[in-house]
Amino acid sequence: MKTVIKNISCLVQTEKNRRKWVCGKDMDNIDKIYDAFVEIEEGKISAFGSMDEWMGISDWNNTNIIDAEGGMVFPSYCDSHTHLVFNGSREEEFNDRIKGLTYQEIADNGGGILNSAKKINEISEDELFEISLERLNKLIKLGTGAIEIKSGYGLSMDNEIKILNVIDRLKKTSPATVKSTFLGLHAIPKQFKGEKNKYIDLVIDKILPLIEKNNLADFIDVFCEEGYFDTKDTDRILKAGKKIGLVGKTHVNQFNSIGGVKVSIENEALSVDHLETMKEEDFNSLIGTNCMPTLLPSCSFFLGIPYAPAKEFINRGLPIALASDFNPGSSPSGNMNFVCALACIKLKLTSEQVINATTINSAYAMGLEKELGSIMVGKKANLFITKPMPTYKYLHYSFGENLINKVMLNGKIIK
Ligand code: NIG
Ligand code: FE
Repeated sequence: MKTVIKNISCLVQTEKNRRKWVCGKDMDNIDKIYDAFVEIEEGKISAFGSMDEWMGISDWNNTNIIDAEGGMVFPSYCDSHTHLVFNGSREEEFNDRIKGLTYQEIADNGGGILNSAKKINEISEDELFEISLERLNKLIKLGTGAIEIKSGYGLSMDNEIKILNVIDRLKKTSPATVKSTFLGLHAIPKQFKGEKNKYIDLVIDKILPLIEKNNLADFIDVFCEEGYFDTKDTDRILKAGKKIGLVGKTHVNQFNSIGGVKVSIENEALSVDHLETMKEEDFNSLIGTNCMPTLLPSCSFFLGIPYAPAKEFINRGLPIALASDFNPGSSPSGNMNFVCALACIKLKLTSEQVINATTINSAYAMGLEKELGSIMVGKKANLFITKPMPTYKYLHYSFGENLINKVMLNGKIIK
């Protein structure tokens, strides 16, 4: 049976012809239809248009009708960078930072990623799955319909596989579309202190073959940063990943620009993420590539570090995506509504740029642009219906307010 959502005051981010991504000046445009309907069949969008058109063509008897009651419809957020599978929280470190310690100082004292790795070691796969599913369900209610989730808090064979198994179970159970990324090179584990290469060998020789055998990841990631992994390590892991079909999505330029953008692009990475610290050469390496620069403003907000120069990417004709970076250390929120408001306020992006960056462009950043990221015939019916709002810009302006009324994934309203 068909479903029709009627009385939509504004249907946002409609798409007639498929696009790869939206870049440069085009990021300032979104297509929309006022007083609209969307029709859904077998979990996919089968038609959309203005209410006048629908009144003419509809088969009223054989249709499940949902009244948007004057709310707006947006395509679901695609959150292309998260570390959603973690155990416990790190508010003690948060307080240490308030008192004046830096993120790096906390990491040097055994906090940070290593602290989360200890907590992963203490939890069973089943328990980790339960808490992660609950976390994901909360994000779905906040409008996220597709999500990339990284490992990286395991830092040993058993614990990295534990996280990847949990992501795989989320993929199979959640109505949200889930993509999985192996981030074995997130930090140097305690037991490998001073022996970084031995750990990289373990990751490449022992963990990657298991991932390949059990088909446990779509992408490969590395934290390319001073004190973590350098460009040589990044090159090595991206090449090893590529051999088993994993495409790169890397953590680069968070604190220092050390060549991570260039080496990621040389290895045909799908996205480079963070980019708070950009040199001229980093911008130049991005021009003319298929790599999506992905910005994570809630990490800057939470850590009090500089924001990525979002406007500069757009002014150079590049696209940008926005993601939450949801993790216990640098962004303990996966709320994409907040990411959008923050991007307007701190990155000085317009509502249109933010909508493009959190839908079509972030879908591209996880290889999902053909099935998600806009209201287009044939794409998955992953969308949310808002409460009535004066304009679509109100969603970003009225920060902190939950304006989402109903969420639909695969054509079904989420209870
Ligand atoms: O993307 N920068 C590296 N990884 C995470 C944070 C990790 C943590 O502090 O737990 C990030 O910000
Ligand atoms: Fe991250």
